[in-house]
Amino acid sequence: MIDIHSHILPAIDDGSPDLETSVKMAQIAVSEGITEMIATPHFIEKDKETDKNTIIQKVEELNRELAHRSIDLTILPGQEIFLTPGVPDLYDRGKLLTLCDGDKYLLVELPLMSIPLYALDVIHSLKLKGLNVILAHPERNIEIARNPGRLREFIKIGALVQVNSLTLFGVLGKNAKHTAENIINSGMAHFIATDCHTARTRSPRIKRIMKFLTEDAAKLLLKDNPSKVLKGKDIDSKLEAYDGKDIGFFKKLTVFIDSIKNAREVRHDF
Ligand SMILES: [Fe+2]
Repeated sequence: MIDIHSHILPAIDDGSPDLETSVKMAQIAVSEGITEMIATPHFIEKDKETDKNTIIQKVEELNRELAHRSIDLTILPGQEIFLTPGVPDLYDRGKLLTLCDGDKYLLVELPLMSIPLYALDVIHSLKLKGLNVILAHPERNIEIARNPGRLREFIKIGALVQVNSLTLFGVLGKNAKHTAENIINSGMAHFIATDCHTARTRSPRIKRIMKFLTEDAAKLLLKDNPSKVLKGKDIDSKLEAYDGKDIGFFKKLTVFIDSIKNAREVRHDF
């Protein structure tokens, strides 16, 4: 399996605090069947602007340490970028690190409490620059939790969707878990990743995901699509999401009832 979202690099953001924790996280990842992991420290404009060269250097150091300890995991460089109107300009000025430093995929996160009015425009301008934008854990956004169908607006303009395995395990609360299931079952997910931060509660656990998915879905979301990111190949946001076709009738019915409820709630909001 390939994990495209992690905070395994030591002492750079709110993830691993030191090298020993990073090594423990790597050992857990290997035991979970992860072979490659993209390190994606947070980048927040004018707040926590992690330096791309520092990330690349820390990735090399951690890979050396893992090889030295015979831990069979390859770390690749990346960043998780908080979406602000300045992101396209920051990219043009060479401040941002794309996934695997391949100039093809950008992992971005929305604020938790809203979908900013500029979000679609910014993603559209990034697309025009030839970048594929991956939305990190949209299930944690309150507006998407209220109406997961809003993700379609992003998918329509080419954005890809990454759901957290830990959300599906319930680590981030019932509401986020329910939204994550809804996103996957409605055919709007392209990736599942760990977004691991520690060697404890938010560790790189993913194997148990097989209980939630069919074999085909797991292959697409954990292997095939992530491998395209590593190889710099394009993914069609409309065609290459898991289509939810394997889920049972009752689950589909639940998703349908939820979507009606959500639509009503949104109407009441106006
Ligand atoms: Fe993250």
